Amino acid sequence: MSEHKARIAVLVSGGGTNLQALIDAQNSGILNSGKIEVVISSNPNAYAIKRALDASIDAVCVTKAEFGGSQELFEKKIISLIKTLDIDVIVLAGFMSILSENFTKQFPNRIINVHPSLIPSFCGKGFYGLRVHEAALNYGVKVTGATVHFVNEIPDGGEIIMQKAVNIRENDTPESLQKRVMKLAEWKILPLSVQKVCKEILENEKEQSK
Ligand code: GAR
Repeated sequence: MSEHKARIAVLVSGGGTNLQALIDAQNSGILNSGKIEVVISSNPNAYAIKRALDASIDAVCVTKAEFGGSQELFEKKIISLIKTLDIDVIVLAGFMSILSENFTKQFPNRIINVHPSLIPSFCGKGFYGLRVHEAALNYGVKVTGATVHFVNEIPDGGEIIMQKAVNIRENDTPESLQKRVMKLAEWKILPLSVQKVCKEILENEKEQSK
């Protein structure tokens, strides 16, 4: 008998190291209350697509360009995929597009994002990827880290699920800091957070079916 699991969609745009952390967590059993059903990439050249296929996970590419640059139509396509596949949890793992309120309000407490700083520092519109680490180094903070949070209509403004701090070293560059924040924080707290949310969804379903 196959065990019931929350159905996960992972949205990506680039290298997909956070996706890889989720795949590894699924294989090792750290993530056992949910299963990655699909990977949706906003970038046809994303290495994340290869990671998905190598793990025998379906990968679909949806670009804004194919909808003439329309965010509304781009989101509509993603929403239709998510609904068709009966997805319970949407994970943004390096997804480089800010989702509109029309999207986020359809999935309250069901969209999870990983951000490479300790929110509320260095977050919001314009803060993504290496730019976040450049800003942290320019400011001169001594501690940074990563945050996993629910996604609502405010960019990086939803409820925090987990955070992990990482010390900044004197000779850090944005690249060296990015690598350390990923390794010491993101790849650890993203799978743990996804497991926590999936487990809670299953527990609630069980409670409601009593
Ligand atoms: C990660 O550092 C992630 O936290 C960041 O982009 C990188 C994607 O790497 N996301 C953001 O900045 C979102 N605001 P990955 O494709 O290797 O997972």
